[in-house]
Amino acid sequence: MPIRRTEWEGVSTDGPWLLTRNRVPGVSVYGESLPREGGSEYRRWDANRSKLAAYLRCGGRVWGFRGDASVLYLGAGSGTTASHVSDICREGTITAIEISTRAFRDLLRIAETRTNLVPVLGDAAKPETYRGRLGVVDVLYRRNASSRRRNRNSSKRA
Ligand SMILES: C[S@@+](CC[C@H](N)C(=O)[O-])C[C@H]1O[C@@H](n2cnc3c(N)ncnc32)[C@H](O)[C@@H]1O
Repeated sequence: MPIRRTEWEGVSTDGPWLLTRNRVPGVSVYGESLPREGGSEYRRWDANRSKLAAYLRCGGRVWGFRGDASVLYLGAGSGTTASHVSDICREGTITAIEISTRAFRDLLRIAETRTNLVPVLGDAAKPETYRGRLGVVDVLYRRNASSRRRNRNSSKRA
């Protein structure tokens, strides 16, 4: 199927797959394939590996990401989703906070070629430690609360 744009800015599809236009042509981040069309290279966005892609696959409507958006990404992990956000907000900046040194190493590696991705090793819950690196933030994207936190909150409600 031909590649076409979707209703979500910066996201395309070839039918079965969501795609983002590769900001670093020739480089696959996590083994995803790189289809080409019309002189552009895309990256397949695996909804089994990215909650943001799964959200779109499930028909998510709220979409604040723009080509020049400044994004604060809390809990960026190894950078799978952050790398696609870097494709989507290709003229913007993604400041990616990650607490685990293991995951942060992978994030750093990805940021070596993705110049709009700024990895910060730190605790998302302590904004005073990374606030100085931020300008105006257009989009705040964060991982879901942990199951422990969710359980605690639901037992408070019960
Ligand atoms: C599920 S992973 C993120 C995966 C990522 N969203 C993706 O799709 O590629 C959640 C990450 O949040 C990180 N994390 C958990 N608590 C955090 C905190 N307080 N500050 C920063 N990162 C945190 C974990 O280390 C983990 O790497």
